[in-house]
Amino acid sequence: MENHISIHPEIIMVVDDDQGICSMLQAGIQIAGYKCFVAQSPKLALELLALHPVDVVVADIKMPGMSGIELAQIVKKEYAADVVIMTGFIEDFNYEDIVEQGASDFLQKPVRIAEFVARLKRVLSERASKNDRKKALEDLKLNLDKLRRAMEGIVQAISITVEMRDPYTAGHQQRVADLACAIASAMGLSDDEIYGLRMASVIHDLGKITVPAEILSKPGQLSDLEYELIKSHVQAGYDILKQIEFPWPLADIILQHHERMDGSGYPNGLKDEQILLAARILSVADVFETIASHRPYRPSLGQPRALEELRDNRGKLYDRRVVDVCLSLIEEKRFQFPN
Ligand SMILES: [Fe+2]
Repeated sequence: MENHISIHPEIIMVVDDDQGICSMLQAGIQIAGYKCFVAQSPKLALELLALHPVDVVVADIKMPGMSGIELAQIVKKEYAADVVIMTGFIEDFNYEDIVEQGASDFLQKPVRIAEFVARLKRVLSERASKNDRKKALEDLKLNLDKLRRAMEGIVQAISITVEMRDPYTAGHQQRVADLACAIASAMGLSDDEIYGLRMASVIHDLGKITVPAEILSKPGQLSDLEYELIKSHVQAGYDILKQIEFPWPLADIILQHHERMDGSGYPNGLKDEQILLAARILSVADVFETIASHRPYRPSLGQPRALEELRDNRGKLYDRRVVDVCLSLIEEKRFQFPN
């Protein structure tokens, strides 16, 4: 092999216990411009594979110690090489079976060298396009990860902006998101649904940027007009987000987070299943966090009061299943807000 110049980067290995066939194929492969190893036993082939990045293994079927098919299975499992199987016992095997065992092609002996090289080139070109596809897929995944991180960054920035105007609720959206996701996870929602719920939760009060800051932080009772203004935050949040094509219905989840199961919520008085499951989860997490933490007009009422609110209105204002999961998470201390 040292006497030949390889013009292609690929490495081929011929495995056959017949020395004559090994030499003939090696010569043909080298003339075609590829590097070529030969191994006269599967054992030697595996030793060489461990040392060299072989692209294609060309193996005889009947060999001492291990068949070419068994070798193909090991190569497929442990190495990234393609395998081409050769046999003189063509009637004992069929193409489909051999390809099913992991071979990329199947050749009948006696092998004609021109046909062999042509088949080898086809396997190599399929291999190259497979690698290109794999690389393209990896690049796509990388870009998607980057986009996802950028989106997360933007959503977080919006979240911080909202909370900057309303220091009393600083951290509220993040804590609600943590609880909502814990509930969703315990309810068996998919990772993707949970991720979408997190995105919606961390900006669920986004629309409050349209509410005057003095109303948001006003201690004491609100007038009817002030209360109406605060209620408008769900529609405002929806209007801001509705143009953006998120992979999840963020605008709708946010629009519905003050809807209640009995239709007494706002803005549209939706009932039961009319309310998105994500919004039902978000509303329970929102109510729980709101009662359990300090508000402008009162100190924290504590977790027992928050649990009581959920228990009292289970199935009335809040989804039964969501409440049950939330209660068990809190009571069994499987979820705690960070301090
Ligand atoms: Fe809200």
